[in-house]
Amino acid sequence: MQPVEIVVVGSYNRDVVLSVAQLPAPGETCLALGRLTAPGGKGSNQAVQAARAGARVAMLAAVGDDLHADEALATWTACGIDVSGVARLAGRDTGMAVVMVDARGENSIIVDAGANTHLDAAHVEAAAGLVGGAKLVVAQLETPVAATRRAFEIARAAGVTTLLNAAPAPDAISDDLLAVTDILVVNEGEGQRLTGASHAHAIGPALLQRVGQAAIVTLGAQGAVLFQGEAEPAARGAHRVEVVDTTGAGDAFIGAFAARLAATGDAGAALAWGLAAGALACTRLGATDSFAEAAAIAALAEA
Ligand code: RIB
Repeated sequence: MQPVEIVVVGSYNRDVVLSVAQLPAPGETCLALGRLTAPGGKGSNQAVQAARAGARVAMLAAVGDDLHADEALATWTACGIDVSGVARLAGRDTGMAVVMVDARGENSIIVDAGANTHLDAAHVEAAAGLVGGAKLVVAQLETPVAATRRAFEIARAAGVTTLLNAAPAPDAISDDLLAVTDILVVNEGEGQRLTGASHAHAIGPALLQRVGQAAIVTLGAQGAVLFQGEAEPAARGAHRVEVVDTTGAGDAFIGAFAARLAATGDAGAALAWGLAAGALACTRLGATDSFAEAAAIAALAEA
């Protein structure tokens, strides 16, 4: 078997996606127009998209001992994702998210993290061989930072590139996590919260100073900007698509970016794949179900 290229340290949530005409105001009850239950969680979404984009992927995650855990494992296995680093925790509930999507495709999400909060550094240690043998380790902020930091330390010691997606938006990221982060990806809101700056061209340089290689600021319908070393910022526009649901579009960006980066080592080419996959993910309801395969991503990225 060929070695794993990307290890994702991250969350799994069972998503309950409710379509509504308008997101409810505080105190308001509204009726849903439709419902979809599907695999989700930022870590799982990014792993699934990276696998669909052609990478060999392993998942380091914690799920409960319920039916949702069976669905998680079935989802990953169907995509060819290595699940040897997934812990099934007795007496815990698998993570769950309630996602509300309005008529414009905008969403609000509530996550009940469940088993995700029990992913720890010891768990990562047990999978040190996978982490140290990969090309890229990818993490988000829906699982404990101690586990991510340990994974990044192992990766750094083995010369493996580390990518942190600072989502959900944190108020701060500790210096010791950023010290072992090579590539940091934020959206504009997350970047504003972390730096106090209000524009991508101020956010990017401020973040680039704190990480090893590159910072990327994603801008939704405006595309994304890559800040890398001494090079001029590389801005790329988004593809115009008919938006059904933006849920998971950011995860699709990261997953496809990671897959292309692992395959080519070229962050510029990877940015194009990320934007194409993000746009395609907006054209269908839900997260995992909306993620495209490599051929469709390549066709749009190179159009
Ligand atoms: O980024 C989208 C994801 O955020 C959803 O799948 C939901 O589970 C939450 O983690």
